[in-house]
Amino acid sequence: MKLSGLVLSLSLMSLLESTAAYPGMKNTIQEIQRRDVELRERRFLAREQEKRQAEAPDDPEAPEAPEAPEGGDNDDGSTAPVLIGDLMDGGTTPVGKTIARILMKTEQGQSLEAGYKPPLLGTQACKKDTCCVWQYISAAMTLAFRGPSGRCNKYARQAIRLGFHDAGTWSVPNKNAGKDFGGADGSIALSKTEINRAENNGLQDIIGKARVWQKTFGVGMADLIQFAAIHAVVSCPLGPRIRVFVGRKDSSKEAPDGLLPGVNDSADKLIQLFEDKTIPPHDLTALLGAHTTSEQFFVDPKRKGAPQDGTPGVWDTLFYNQTLGTGPLPKQVFRFPSDIAIANDPRARSEWESFSGPGGQSHWNEDYAWAYTRLSMLGVNNMNNMTECTKVLPMPQTTFKGAGELLKSE
Ligand code: HEM
Ligand SMILES: *[C@@H]1O[C@H](CO)[C@@H](O)[C@H](O)[C@H]1NC(C)=O
Ligand SMILES: *[C@@H]1O[C@H](CO)[C@@H](O)[C@H](O)[C@H]1NC(C)=O
Ligand SMILES: *[C@@H]1O[C@H](CO)[C@@H](O)[C@H](O)[C@H]1NC(C)=O
Repeated sequence: MKLSGLVLSLSLMSLLESTAAYPGMKNTIQEIQRRDVELRERRFLAREQEKRQAEAPDDPEAPEAPEAPEGGDNDDGSTAPVLIGDLMDGGTTPVGKTIARILMKTEQGQSLEAGYKPPLLGTQACKKDTCCVWQYISAAMTLAFRGPSGRCNKYARQAIRLGFHDAGTWSVPNKNAGKDFGGADGSIALSKTEINRAENNGLQDIIGKARVWQKTFGVGMADLIQFAAIHAVVSCPLGPRIRVFVGRKDSSKEAPDGLLPGVNDSADKLIQLFEDKTIPPHDLTALLGAHTTSEQFFVDPKRKGAPQDGTPGVWDTLFYNQTLGTGPLPKQVFRFPSDIAIANDPRARSEWESFSGPGGQSHWNEDYAWAYTRLSMLGVNNMNNMTECTKVLPMPQTTFKGAGELLKSE
C-alpha cells in the first residue's frame, strides 16, 4: 500500500476506534472513570503544590513536596514497593514523579484519557508531537491484534509475552554486580542471538511484525515492544487500559541469560527470580493472569495450541479458577506446573483466590496495570525523560459474551 493510502485508512481506523462504544460498557467504565477523576484531582493538586513551591521556595505555608512517594497498598502485607532506575529519589520531572507514584501504587496505572486528534502522519507537526506517530501505530495494532470473534488473537498473545521476555532480563543482583543492562531495551529483537534462546520460541512471528512496524513508523524497538504488550492487553475483551509511556533507549547488546522463568521451576525459585526484579509475589500473581489469554506450543508439542483456561483470547479471571482446580476443568485446558505451584504457595494463594472470586476482575485489572508498568520499566534509566501517550490507546471492552463461563468438556 502507498504511504498516503496507509495514512488515510489508518486515520479512518483511529476515528472509528475513538467513537466506538460497546454495549454494557457502563459498570466497569464508570468505576474506572470515577478513579480517573480522583486521580486527575490528585495530580492537579500535586502540580499546584509544585508550582507554589517553585514560586515561593521559602514560604513556610507551602507544604513540603515529599521526596519519594510513600508506598501504597501492596496487597502483600509485607514488602512495600520499591523505586527503580532514575526514580530512586521519587523523580525530578512531572512525568518521572507520575511514574514513581504508579510504581508505588499511590496513583492508578489505568486511565481512560482520550480525545486526541493527531496531525497527519509524516508532517512536521506530527514529528514535533511525540504521541502522534503512536496514534497511527495504535491503529495498525488494533487491526493486527483482534480476531473476527472480537477476542484478541495470536499476535496479541505473542506481543504480551514478548513484552515480558524483553523486559524480564534485568535484575537487581546483576545491577549491583555492575551489569545494569538487559530489561526493556528492545534487545530481544535487536540482538542477533536472543531470539534463538529456547525460552523465546514462539515469539518469531511478532518479532517479524515489530521489525516491519519499526521500519514503517521509525520508532524505537524498546518502546514499540512495550507499547505492543500494553496495546495487546486492551485489545482483549475485559483487558485493562494500562497507561503507556515512551522514550526508552534501544540496545542491541544481548541481555543476560538465565533470568526468565522455567515452566518446571519450583515456587521458591520463581518467587526469588521475580523478587530479584523488584516484583513481589502478589505482583507476580497478577502478571501470571496473562495466561488467561495464552496457548502453549512447546511445553507439550503434541498439544499445540492448548489454552491455559477455557476462554483463551478473553481477559477474564477464569484462569485463576481453573488453575486452582477447585471446579470442573475442560479437557482442552493445559495447566502449567509453574502456575499451579505459584497458585498454591502461601505467599500467593490468598491473592490468587481473591482474583478468582467476586470483584476479582477489577481488582486484578488494577493490580496487573501496576505490576506491568513496573515490569515495562525494568532496566530503564531515563524515566524522567519519558512522555505519556495513553490517549492514543483504544477504549477497553468491558463485557464479552461467554467470558468467565466454563466451557463444556465435550
Ligand atoms: C512464572 C512465570 C512464567 C512462566 C513459567 C511462564 C511460562 C510460559 C510458557 C511455558 C508458555 C508457553 C510457551 C509455548 O509453549 O508456546 C507461556 C506462554 C505465555 N506467557 Fe508465560 N510464563 C510466565 C510468566 C508470564 C508473564 C509475567 C507474562 C506476561 C505478563 C506471560 C505471558 C504469556 C503469554 C501471553 C503467553 C502465550 C503466548 C502465546 O499464546 O503464543 N507469562 N508462558
Ligand atoms: C517439564 O517437565 C515435563 C514433565 O516431567 C517434561 O516433559 C518437560 O520436558 C519439562 N520441560 C522443561 C522445559 O524442562
Ligand atoms: C471462581 O471461583 C470463585 C471462588 O473463588 C467463585 O465465586 C466463582 O463463581 C468461580 N467462577 C467460575 C466461573 O467458576
Ligand atoms: C533527557 O532529554 C534531554 C533532552 O532531550 C537530554 O539532553 C538528556 O540527556 C536526557 N537525559 C537522559 C537521562 O536521558
